[in-house]
Amino acid sequence: MFKGTAAHLCLYWRAVYLLAAGVALPSETLWLCPPPCRCNAAVLEANCSGAQLGVIPNGLPQDAELLNLTQNAIRTLVNQQFHTLTQLLHLDLSDNLLTLIEVEAFFGLQNLLTLNLSYNHLTIISVGVFAGLTNLQLLDISSNKILVFLDFTFRDLASLEVFLADDNDIVFISNQALAGLSRLQMLDLDGCNLTAVPTEALTHLSVLKSLHVHQLGLKTLPNYSFHSLLHLKELVITHFTRLETLSGNSLFGLNLTSLTIKHCNLNEVPYTALHHLVYLVSIDLSFNPITYIHGNLLGDLLRLQEFHLVGGSLVNIEIGAFKGLGFLRLLNVSRNLLTTLEVGSFHSVDTLKSLGLDDNPLACDCRLLWVAQRRLSVDFGRRPPTCMTSTKLQGWSLLEFSEEELQSLLTCRQARIVDRRSQDVKVDQGHSVAFYCSAQGDPQPSVIWLNPQLRQVSPVGRIRALSNGSLEVRYAQPHDSGMYMCVASNAAGNESLRVSLHVQALPSPSKKRFRLKSWLTFPSSPPGGDRNETLPFDVKTLLIAATIGFLSFFGSVSVCFIFMFFWSKGKGQIKHTATIEYVPRSAMNKSNTGTSNYMETSRFTMKLI
Ligand SMILES: *[C@@H]1O[C@H](CO)[C@@H](O)[C@H](O)[C@H]1NC(C)=O
Ligand SMILES: *[C@@H]1O[C@H](CO)[C@@H](O)[C@H](O)[C@H]1NC(C)=O
Ligand SMILES: *[C@@H]1O[C@H](CO)[C@@H](O)[C@H](O)[C@H]1NC(C)=O
Ligand SMILES: *[C@@H]1O[C@H](CO)[C@@H](O)[C@H](O)[C@H]1NC(C)=O
Ligand SMILES: *[C@@H]1O[C@H](CO)[C@@H](O)[C@H](O)[C@H]1NC(C)=O
Ligand SMILES: *[C@@H]1O[C@H](CO)[C@@H](O)[C@H](O)[C@H]1NC(C)=O
Ligand SMILES: *[C@@H]1O[C@H](CO)[C@@H](O)[C@H](O)[C@H]1NC(C)=O
Ligand SMILES: *[C@@H]1O[C@H](CO)[C@@H](O)[C@H](O)[C@H]1NC(C)=O
Ligand SMILES: *[C@@H]1O[C@H](CO)[C@@H](O)[C@H](O)[C@H]1NC(C)=O
Ligand SMILES: *[C@@H]1O[C@H](CO)[C@@H](O)[C@H](O)[C@H]1NC(C)=O
Repeated sequence: MFKGTAAHLCLYWRAVYLLAAGVALPSETLWLCPPPCRCNAAVLEANCSGAQLGVIPNGLPQDAELLNLTQNAIRTLVNQQFHTLTQLLHLDLSDNLLTLIEVEAFFGLQNLLTLNLSYNHLTIISVGVFAGLTNLQLLDISSNKILVFLDFTFRDLASLEVFLADDNDIVFISNQALAGLSRLQMLDLDGCNLTAVPTEALTHLSVLKSLHVHQLGLKTLPNYSFHSLLHLKELVITHFTRLETLSGNSLFGLNLTSLTIKHCNLNEVPYTALHHLVYLVSIDLSFNPITYIHGNLLGDLLRLQEFHLVGGSLVNIEIGAFKGLGFLRLLNVSRNLLTTLEVGSFHSVDTLKSLGLDDNPLACDCRLLWVAQRRLSVDFGRRPPTCMTSTKLQGWSLLEFSEEELQSLLTCRQARIVDRRSQDVKVDQGHSVAFYCSAQGDPQPSVIWLNPQLRQVSPVGRIRALSNGSLEVRYAQPHDSGMYMCVASNAAGNESLRVSLHVQALPSPSKKRFRLKSWLTFPSSPPGGDRNETLPFDVKTLLIAATIGFLSFFGSVSVCFIFMFFWSKGKGQIKHTATIEYVPRSAMNKSNTGTSNYMETSRFTMKLI
């Protein structure tokens, strides 16, 4: 009765208003609308937000397309709560006190496209709550206190494309929980407290394009974690604070264009796991304690355009680190421990449009000249790269030098080998030799040794390059002879020094018996050494020596035996048995009485032949 009167009054006033003003309808037209909601017939919207409602008001306009109930105090939704609002497209119930949603609460909302249930107090969602929402495309249940996703909870949401479930307390997602979400494209599980990757549950999401996961207590991402997500393009993993490694096949099956693994505990770029992601455009490994980007290991990512590693522990980006990445447009390595970034790390610096290098202890020398020279064409972000380690330029921004200053300030001193005296060494086989090579320059040069075959000598093995620049040859062999070369190099150039080694072979064993010394040196040669080294004597010699030795031994024994035989014959009568008596030690210690008893038993007879 009252409602009818109100409606008539409304119509009356609207007519009066229209007559009086003679203009088009104002945006806030009057419409059947329960107080304290504000309804707008022009956009078919019922705005009941912020009205301290404890329950859903009755009498909402039946042709409303948007019902906004946010910021109220609604606690429960009953069965078929909205069954009259069949035209509803958008329902916003966020920021209420919802703890209970009855089964089929949304029944009848077959046109609903978006449902926002975020910022409530839900701890569980029963199977059947979403029954009837056959056209729902977006569901937001983020910022609740949901603990588990039960089997088939979302099976009615066959049209769902976006599912936001971040910031809950989810500890478990059962294997069939996501069954039925056959059109889901985006799943956000940020801020959940899962203990394992829900690999099995994810297999239902065959068209998923974007996945965000957050807070997992894993140390290693297992193999085949996401194997069923063939259409996934974006994977975001954050705050797996214990995650140290990615298994080689952990990203198997994925064909990503964007990968983020942030705020984890990775100490190395997961080269092996990334290797097959040839369509990757952007990678973000920020806030991981990664110390190196090694050379020549990212070349498979040939379409990569962006590489972010902000806030890591990078001390070195090796030469060739981005080799093969011909489209790299952005590199952000700000807030690391880099002293330099060399041109040689890139495939080509001409593609680079954006470079974050601030907050690194940069040594401003010729290696960073290329950076300074690109101050107009490259975006360095808001904080410019600043010189830290060189005393004369301390605190200067790399971008504020003029062209002339650059050439005179950002300089290097070419590597120089300090002591160039000739080192020609002749030694006998089996001895050890050391060659010296120490270098100076700015930046401090690196020293490598090349063997006579011009291969680099490794820091381990019988022949090894020591960290102080020396070359050590242990247990020298004739085939070690030749010219060795020390190469000292830095960004400004290189210098080399040749030394020669001549190893005198030991006299051949066919002329003279091998010496004891050879026996001693051979087994003591190091296990890491050259395994193919020739023995100090050959096998034939060894066999001959053994044969001679055996024959002479056999001869002496035979002579001795024959002599003894004839001697014993000459002696005549011999007793062929011997009786030996003994007193066991323990018995003697025990007591002095009864010794005779033992004498009786402790006796045996031996037959002599
Ligand atoms: C809904 O009502 C609230 C409170 O009156 C108001 O602040 C808000 O702007 C309204 N929203 C829309 C979309 O009209
Ligand atoms: C509901 O109203 C609030 C406050 O007026 C607004 O911020 C929010 O965007 C509205 N929701 C929808 C779905 O329009
Ligand atoms: C749901 O509502 C919350 C709070 O009102 C809002 O922050 C969020 O953006 C909404 N979700 C969507 C998908 O619009
Ligand atoms: C996750 O679990 C830890 C303890 O296991 C708890 O301290 C933390 O608050 C939880 N985080 C969330 C977002 O539920
Ligand atoms: C994961 O796969 C890699 C590559 O096939 C394999 O080497 C590794 O042992 C596997 N790890 C586990 C834990 O199965
Ligand atoms: C991988 O994704 C790219 C585009 O992102 C697509 O062109 C390519 O066909 C996909 N490859 C496979 C094997 O699905
Ligand atoms: C690098 O990342 C940091 C942190 O996200 C950001 O503030 C900065 O602007 C970025 N720099 C560039 C050049 O994109
Ligand atoms: C280099 O180190 C080795 C062993 O560490 C030492 O024997 C050698 O004398 C050192 N050489 C120089 C030039 O210091
Ligand atoms: C040393 O420098 C020359 C040119 O200055 C270069 O051709 C050569 O490859 C360099 N050698 C090494 C080992 O870096
Ligand atoms: C050992 O030397 C022989 C010939 O000198 C060569 O054929 C063989 O490959 C070498 N073996 C190893 C393990 O280097």
